[in-house]
Amino acid sequence: MHYESDVPVGELLADISDPDQIIGPTLDQFHIGGATATARLLDLLELPDASHVLDVGSGLGGPARLLATTRDWQVTGVDLAPEFCRIASALSARAELSAQTTFCAGDALHLPFANGLFDAVWTEHVAMNIGARDDFYRELARVVRPGGLLAIYDVVVVENTSPLTFPVPWARKAEHSHMVTAKMLRERVTYAGWNAYIWNDESIFARDWLTNMRLAKGPAGPSLHHIMGDDFSLMTRNLRDNFVDGRLGAIQAVFEKPA
Ligand SMILES: C[S@@+](CC[C@H](N)C(=O)[O-])C[C@H]1O[C@@H](n2cnc3c(N)ncnc32)[C@H](O)[C@@H]1O
Repeated sequence: MHYESDVPVGELLADISDPDQIIGPTLDQFHIGGATATARLLDLLELPDASHVLDVGSGLGGPARLLATTRDWQVTGVDLAPEFCRIASALSARAELSAQTTFCAGDALHLPFANGLFDAVWTEHVAMNIGARDDFYRELARVVRPGGLLAIYDVVVVENTSPLTFPVPWARKAEHSHMVTAKMLRERVTYAGWNAYIWNDESIFARDWLTNMRLAKGPAGPSLHHIMGDDFSLMTRNLRDNFVDGRLGAIQAVFEKPA
C-alpha cells in the first residue's frame, strides 16, 4: 500500500513515548492546510455534545484529536494502515486522549461497524485513493444514523487541464490516484443518498498554504517526512505546482443523511 512503505514504526513509537522528544503538528495532520484546515471544516459541523464521530482514513489521528478536544465528542478512527493506527493510538496516549479517541484498522469500503452507529462521519484527503466512489459514500451512509452528517475535505482535479505531475502525497504513480472533479464529487456523494447542505471551494486556501509552507526539508522532531520517506519533499512540491498551475482544487463540504 502506498502509505505503508518502510514506515519506521519502532523508532516513531520510541520518540512518542519519550516526554522530552518534540512532536509537532507536522506529524499527524496529513492533509493540505494542517490543523487550520481541520478547524475550518470543524467550524461547519453542528453536533450535540457526546456525539460519536467516525474519522475514516484517520491516518496518524491529528484530526480525531482536534475534534475530541475542541468539542465534547467521542471519535473513532479507522484506517487501512494498521501501523498508522498504532502510531495514532500512541499519540493519543501521549496527549492523554485515549478515552476520547480510539483507532482501529479497517477498509473504508467494508467498515467494521454496525449500521447507524455514528452521529457523523468525517473524512479528509482519503477519497483520492478510492476508485469505487459510489461504494465508498454508500458505506459511509450505512454506518451513520438517519439525520447524521458527513464532513469531507478532499482534493479534486480541475476539468480540461493538463495531466498531473507525479508523485503526489497520495500516489507515486497516476494509476494509484483516483481523482474526480468537484462536480463529480458532489454527484457521487448525492447519488449515494446524501443531501448536500454546505459546499465550499477551498482551492485558494489550499494553494496559498502550499505556496507558503516550508518545502525544502522537514521540521525538527518526527514529521510526515519520516512516514513517507525521502521523496516526500518532491511529492509536496509537485502538489504545490499542480495547485499553482490550476490542475487541482480542494473542496470542503457537509452532507446530511435523510432522516
Ligand atoms: C493523506 S492521509 C490522510 C490522513 C488523515 N485523514 C489526515 O488528514 O491527517 C490518507 C489516509 O487514508 C488512508 N486510506 C487510504 N485508503 C483507505 C481505505 N480504503 N480505507 C481506509 N483508509 C484508507 C491511508 O492509509 C492514509 O492514512
